[in-house]
Amino acid sequence: MSQSGSAGSAGSKASGSKGSKTARATDSSAVDKRFKALDLVMKRQQYRQDALIEVLHRAQEIFGYLEEKTLLHVARSLQLPASHVLGVATFYHLFSLKPSGEHTCVVCLGTACYVKGSGDVLNALEKHTGIQSGATTSDGKVSLVTARCIGACGIAPAVVFDGQVAAQVTTEQAIARIDQWRGDA
Ligand code: FES
Repeated sequence: MSQSGSAGSAGSKASGSKGSKTARATDSSAVDKRFKALDLVMKRQQYRQDALIEVLHRAQEIFGYLEEKTLLHVARSLQLPASHVLGVATFYHLFSLKPSGEHTCVVCLGTACYVKGSGDVLNALEKHTGIQSGATTSDGKVSLVTARCIGACGIAPAVVFDGQVAAQVTTEQAIARIDQWRGDA
């Protein structure tokens, strides 16, 4: 059963962040860690197909939402038809398949990130944008999402900007990125 590498290109979407002061992890290695974290979840469930909903829950916690490549990865790993996994993910309203904003900012609130200040980063972003986690700004530019451990604890606090994992993100760096997306900077 192949669990690794099938979604290794996650995070290849460019954020257009020229000039950002935000430090980044090397993209693919850091993003792959999220898939490794998901693989661990499925391994613990012994790749049981009837653990699909639990796995999707954890996948949403890890990624913030369930995009197609994540669902396909789960389908392959649990040896389920992609249509079935997609069907389950769309049936339950608690699963979010896509943030509606043009850009997505996922703040990790896992323990390692939280103790390093990711809660403060999230609070600052919520205050700055005027939206809560899980919502999208009224201009449709930014969706703010939280996740619980994206598998990059060594670079905490980690924030994922448009699929690219950024390391040791400060409040100022996160706000600067949001402003850049919204054309305010
Ligand atoms: S707690 Fe944030 S990456 Fe693990």
